[in-house]
Amino acid sequence: MKNYKIAVLAGDGIGPEITKEAIKVLKVIEERNDVSFELNDGLFGACAYFDSGDAFPQRTKDICDNADAILKGPIGLSHEESKNIPVDKRPERGALLPMRRRYNTYANFRPVFLPKALAHFSPLKAEIIGEGIDLIIVRELVGGLYFGKKETGVNDDGLRYVKETLEYDEGQIRQILIQAFKLACNRKKVLHNIHKSNVLKSSVLWNEILEEVAKDYPQVKVINILVDAAATLLCLKPTQFDVMVMENMFGDILSDQGGGILGSLGLMPSACIGDEKAYYEPSHGSAPDIAGKNIANPYSMIGSVAMMLENSFDMAAEAKNIWVAMQSVFGDGFSTADLSKPGTDVKMIGTDEFGDKVVEKLRAMPIV
Ligand code: IPM
Ligand code: MG
Repeated sequence: MKNYKIAVLAGDGIGPEITKEAIKVLKVIEERNDVSFELNDGLFGACAYFDSGDAFPQRTKDICDNADAILKGPIGLSHEESKNIPVDKRPERGALLPMRRRYNTYANFRPVFLPKALAHFSPLKAEIIGEGIDLIIVRELVGGLYFGKKETGVNDDGLRYVKETLEYDEGQIRQILIQAFKLACNRKKVLHNIHKSNVLKSSVLWNEILEEVAKDYPQVKVINILVDAAATLLCLKPTQFDVMVMENMFGDILSDQGGGILGSLGLMPSACIGDEKAYYEPSHGSAPDIAGKNIANPYSMIGSVAMMLENSFDMAAEAKNIWVAMQSVFGDGFSTADLSKPGTDVKMIGTDEFGDKVVEKLRAMPIV
């Protein structure tokens, strides 16, 4: 029997309640397969800061260091509540970015997946959605503006100023592009390269490296699109995209737009992969306004489990079953209140019931 250690960081806000449902799914995977998961809980985010003064405490680092994979819930507080924590210790700067840096999880995969069963959540017209949207944003996750040198001060004119640098070296660019080309090879063999080379030198270097890497993948067709144009096309004709690759900040913004075309960021799981370690997390925040109300859909967290099974544990068939199980719960007309307005044509269920229904569907599926 295979035995994997998973660090479980439930996070803040809706994190604990959606993580609970993801764990139910992991238990079913254990029942159905010759595999066992050792789950080790760690505090991460604002909850960790309030416990120990550190949003990513040493104990949690140890749990993550020893894990085969990390399942991480959303973190963060409301804008107002954040003010109770010093800027550099807040969950984003004090936990999330250090996690990405610690494990060098440079490749962030964010599927924007809208099969027919989910189409009613989307704000897009039926003729735009067509047979469904199925694209993946590949976002560079440990470079660029997020991690460049920062400086603040007062300039010679007596004005307060800020300087943030966007840095990449060719190694960082090459490694993410290789991941994107490999993914494109396994999918439709089309890669949309999202850049801003008409303004940014970083994009000029990015595109140069892309041309070099492309020589190793002659079967992949590359289409270059400026990031601003890509934002428009994601709304007007998202079905033209399959794999889209881009630097960190562009990926942050366009992946939230991806959530927008699905109808909710709650439908956005993700995988953050490095050469040594990977962690899996919803792309969204901790939604403190709806926390504890049993109305948050656990799709993004359960989807992150599916991505973990596929990428870290070589269990692609069970990952697929999880996606299908979730879609068929939606397909049966069920939804949670965060995704659907009362009065619409859905059978409203709670976070926990959604998890239970996914589990029920999964149990009924044949094991391949
Ligand atoms: C994301 C989030 C993070 C980011 C925040 C919480 C720092 O928005 O994962 O997209 O900007 O990368
Ligand atoms: Mg973001």
